[in-house]
Amino acid sequence: MSNDQFGRNIDYLRISVTDRCNYRCRYCMPEEGIKLLAHDKMLTFEDIEFFVKIAAEHGIKNIRLTGGEPLVRPKFPDLVAKIRAIDGIEDISITTNGALLPKFAPALKEAGLNRVNISLDTLDEETFHYITRCGHLSEALASIDTAIEYGFTPVKINTVVVRSLKQNLIDYAKLAVDRPLSIRFIEYMPVGDSAGFEGDGWTLDDTIPSAELIEQIRKEGKEAGLGELVALEKGAVYGHGPASYYKFENSVGTIGFINALSNHFCSSCNRLRLTSEGALRPCLFSDHEYDLREAIRARDVEKTTEGFMQALKTKPQSHQDRVGTNRMMSQIGG
Ligand code: GTP
Ligand code: 5AD
Ligand code: SF4
Repeated sequence: MSNDQFGRNIDYLRISVTDRCNYRCRYCMPEEGIKLLAHDKMLTFEDIEFFVKIAAEHGIKNIRLTGGEPLVRPKFPDLVAKIRAIDGIEDISITTNGALLPKFAPALKEAGLNRVNISLDTLDEETFHYITRCGHLSEALASIDTAIEYGFTPVKINTVVVRSLKQNLIDYAKLAVDRPLSIRFIEYMPVGDSAGFEGDGWTLDDTIPSAELIEQIRKEGKEAGLGELVALEKGAVYGHGPASYYKFENSVGTIGFINALSNHFCSSCNRLRLTSEGALRPCLFSDHEYDLREAIRARDVEKTTEGFMQALKTKPQSHQDRVGTNRMMSQIGG
């Protein structure tokens, strides 16, 4: 077990395995994409395996693989299998847009993947295409069916809520009426704006505070016959992230809220982030990073361990209301 200087137990590592993506979501990257990292700058699977072994020896138990889109990285299931074999690693999950999940689900199951979180920001085909710039709603819906079929449970849906988009949120809640899904509403975060990235011209005004959303969903759910919205105890939905969970009385699934900005959860933050080029980031909202690529590539246990411990020890107490970053979300992995 490794605690940081504020007593937080750091046991969750998010690893961005690529900055590439088959979509171009407006809140995540510009239309032309980002200046992609050269392949030789990216950590190999063996590099990541080496790092995770060291991280596991220092308290990391839960791994979330992200991107860009993790499933566009060639032979991605091989990485899952390598991590599965590491002593001390309990939970392995991915955050995906789902487009490639039907294709890779059997290999991912075989490799030992536990869970998937799938992004889905609208249930309207036209808006889906607008937000992702190139995706199709049918792909996301098929991936949800696949995730349930293969038992990647609990299956969570990530919906970024953007005020200007005027999403019809109760429609998502209805998805969980008779299916074991957890629908999570995420406050839009203007990450990347220090690099001049602006989503679709969206600003902090587009972030709807979760407290406002909860009341809206509560009211609309009642009107739609879903019953009362009841708060669940911490731990009621398996996971290691910051969501707080609720359930409509008449639903099988649950509803989560990720109040990334309005009520930040820094005091219970349990994670570090490794970028695809080997930079270890103590905080999503801070550009302070440790470049460990060379130490990892040299298989230098001492230097890599030192870098890991430094990141852990210098993890800030909070993001102090800074939400801009030089990296875009696709380069951090959420
Ligand atoms: P589980 O709870 O274990 O299922 O995972 P998770 O919710 O941590 O993972 P996921 O990748 O699905 O993240 C959901 C959303 O939470 C994304 O929009 C992330 O950017 C956001 N998020 C995750 N960790 C943090 C964090 O440390 N700070 C902030 N502000 N947002 C975070
Ligand atoms: N604000 C909030 N959430 C975001 N995500 C990506 N960009 C943003 C943003 N600017 C979410 C995606 C994905 C997860 C990794 O992060 O929806 O589910
Ligand atoms: Fe790709 Fe996910 Fe970013 Fe959309 S949010 S562009 S799916 S990495």
